[in-house]
Amino acid sequence: MKKILITGGAGFIGSHLVRLFVNKYPDYQIVNLDKLTYAGNLNNLRDVENASNYEFVKGDIVDAKFIYELFDKYQFDGVVHLAAESHVDRSITNPNEFIMTNIVGTANLLNAANRIWADNQDGKRFYHVSTDEVYGSLGETGFFLEDTPYDPKSPYSASKASSDHLVRAYHNTYKLPVIISNCSNNYGSYQFPEKLIPLFIHNIKNNKPLPVYGKGENIRDWLWVEDHARAIDVIFHGGKDGDTYNIGGHNEWTNIDLIKLMCKIVDQKLGRSEGESEKLITYVKDRAGHDMRYAIDSTKLQNELGWTPSLQFAEGLEKTVEWYLENTDWLENVTSGDYQKYYEEQYQKR
Ligand code: NAD
Ligand code: DAU
Repeated sequence: MKKILITGGAGFIGSHLVRLFVNKYPDYQIVNLDKLTYAGNLNNLRDVENASNYEFVKGDIVDAKFIYELFDKYQFDGVVHLAAESHVDRSITNPNEFIMTNIVGTANLLNAANRIWADNQDGKRFYHVSTDEVYGSLGETGFFLEDTPYDPKSPYSASKASSDHLVRAYHNTYKLPVIISNCSNNYGSYQFPEKLIPLFIHNIKNNKPLPVYGKGENIRDWLWVEDHARAIDVIFHGGKDGDTYNIGGHNEWTNIDLIKLMCKIVDQKLGRSEGESEKLITYVKDRAGHDMRYAIDSTKLQNELGWTPSLQFAEGLEKTVEWYLENTDWLENVTSGDYQKYYEEQYQKR
C-alpha cells in the first residue's frame, strides 16, 4: 500500500484533492496533515473522514522536529504539498506568517523527504502545489508559460516563489524527485469566504456592500477547483521529475464583469428583481501592489498528459452559487468567531 502525505488537506483545494485520492485510490493510504488554521476545516471532509484508507494528523509544517518524526513514522512514498497561507490581503497585513509557513514549512518537508528517501528514490515523488502569481502581472496581452521568468509582487507570491526555488534547488542538488504545478485562480465549494467569489456570494445574499478594489478592471483566469484536483492527479502520476506544469482555465474575467454575473445568478436564485444586487457594488481603495492580469497557458499539460478543464464557467459558477446558498451551516460555521474581526479590520480601513 502506497503511503501518500497530503499537506493542507483541510483547506479549500486540499479537501477536494483528499476526496479525489481517497475515493479513487483505495490502495493508497492518505495521510492529511493540517494545522487547522482559520482556513482549515474538517467539515470540508465529513464524507471521507471514516474511510479506511484515510487518516488525519493535526500538525504544523513549521515544526521541523515534528515533521521529521512524522516522516520517520510513516515512511511516505509520495508527498503532495498544499499547506500554505494563501490569501494575498492577509500577506499584506501580516507577511511573517507567510514566510514561516510557505518558505520554512516547505523547507522542512523537503529536508524530511530528502532524509527518508536518501537511499532509494525509486517511485518516490514530492509534488509542490504552487500558483501563477509567482510570474507577476501581465499587461493586456500574453500568457504565463512554464519558462516565464519569476517576478512575484506580493509577500504571498514572493513566499510561494521562494518555496518553488527551494523545491527546484533540492532537485538540482540532491536529485530529489520533485514536480511543481502553478495554477490560476480556483473557484468552487468549500472556499473560505475571504476570497472574491465566496465572499461576494455571501455578501450578495446578505445584502451587504460588495467591496470592489480599485476600478474592478483587474483580470483573473478562473478554474473549477475539481479540475485543479484532477490536474494534480494526472501530473502526480504522469508528470516528469523536475518538471513544471501550468494549470489554467483559459477563462479570463475582469473582476467587475464577474461580480455583475454573480449578482445576476444570485438574484435569479433568490427571486430578486433583475439588477437589484448590483446596487450593492461599492468601489473601495485598491489592494496595495494589485496585480493587473493573470492568464495561464496550459498547453504543455494538455499536450503531454491530456488534461483539459471539464466544466464551462457558466455552469461551474452557477453550481458554486447554489452550493453556497444551500450550505448555510457550513458558511455560518466559518463566518462566526474570528471572521467578523478579520472582516472589520480588512474592510473598515478601505
Ligand atoms: P487554503 O488557505 O484554503 O488552505 C490552506 C490549508 O493549509 C488550510 O487547511 C490550513 O489549515 C493549512 N495550513 C496553513 N498553514 C499550515 C501550517 N503551518 N502547517 C500545516 N497546515 C497549514 O488554501 P487553498 O486555496 O486551498 O490553496 C492550497 C494551495 O494551493 C496553496 O499552496 C496555494 O498557494 C495554492 N494555490 C491556490 C490557488 C487558489 O486559487 N486558491 C491557486 C493556485 C495555487
Ligand atoms: O492566481 C492564483 C491565486 O488566486 C492563488 O495563488 C491565491 O491563493 C488565491 O487567493 C487567488 O489570489 P487573488 O488575489 O487573485 O484572489 P482573491 O479572491 O483574493 O481576489 C481576486 C480578485 O478580486 C483580485 O483582483 C482582488 C479582487 N478583490 C478581492 C477581494 C477579496 C476585490 O475586488 N475585492 C475583495 O474584497
